[in-house]
Amino acid sequence: MKRICIVGISGKLGQYMIEHALARGYEVTGVCRPESVGKLARFADRITVHPGRTDDRAVIKAATRGCDGVLVVLAPWGVQDYASGTARAVLDLAPPKARLVFSCGWHISRDSRDRYGWKIRVIVGFGTPILRALRVADLDDQVRATNLVFASDRDWTVVRGSDLEEGPSEGLPVWARHVGDPILASNLTRRTDFALFMVVALTDPALIREAPAITGRNGLSARAAEATIRPMPAAR
Ligand SMILES: NC(=O)c1ccc[n+]([C@@H]2O[C@H](COP(=O)([O-])OP(=O)(O)OC[C@H]3O[C@@H](n4cnc5c(N)ncnc54)[C@H](OP(=O)(O)O)[C@@H]3O)[C@@H](O)[C@H]2O)c1
Repeated sequence: MKRICIVGISGKLGQYMIEHALARGYEVTGVCRPESVGKLARFADRITVHPGRTDDRAVIKAATRGCDGVLVVLAPWGVQDYASGTARAVLDLAPPKARLVFSCGWHISRDSRDRYGWKIRVIVGFGTPILRALRVADLDDQVRATNLVFASDRDWTVVRGSDLEEGPSEGLPVWARHVGDPILASNLTRRTDFALFMVVALTDPALIREAPAITGRNGLSARAAEATIRPMPAAR
């Protein structure tokens, strides 16, 4: 992996991904809305930015040219199919051999085997029509976007984030194939570690065509699972 593109580079997740990618010595290009370019001032001489909407096919084609990997922030904002337009552009136009890694939330389901708690069901059930009526966001568009990815024969990974918080890194999050797995019960990941997981996924063949649901490795549920797998030595 030498050169990568971050689509949606100016958001919080995007900026953390820049830090992890630069730390690995990758050459970084990215796409963000023109009004957001200023948010990247601290990286100015270390990255190349292509200003434009992330669903602009010409911008995506130019920004991903020559890239070995593409990290895509799928955001549900607005009601104009922004997320699905972004996913379609990347799937159609990124170099054929590029590794593609997309971000979304736990509410995205690849099959019917995710088991959700009441909180997320209430938020998605009530939030989807309200946000859409207010024309703020369209959670179903993120569903359409990831369905496009799941149907693709490209080398993709869809990383499904838990609730997020700021704070220093705790290390690489743990993951499971399905929401409802006990290891995910803590449901909280540092944003920088979500970004770390995205960047590490670029070079992890085990994650190709997987949709890992993640949570922070310091959460109680992750630590309990680790203790089960590697029991502590018995006390004397
Ligand atoms: N927030 C959570 O608790 C949570 C939980 C699980 C998963 N996730 C996932 O994590 C990823 C990043 O989420 P985040 O909350 O951390 O946000 P973020 O990194 O700040 O990213 C938000 C993205 O949306 C863009 N955006 C904001 N307003 C927009 C608008 N009106 N039209 C078009 N684009 C707009 C931003 O671009 P600009 O810089 O141009 O504004 C940025 O690229 C997403 O894939 C999300 O589904 C979030």
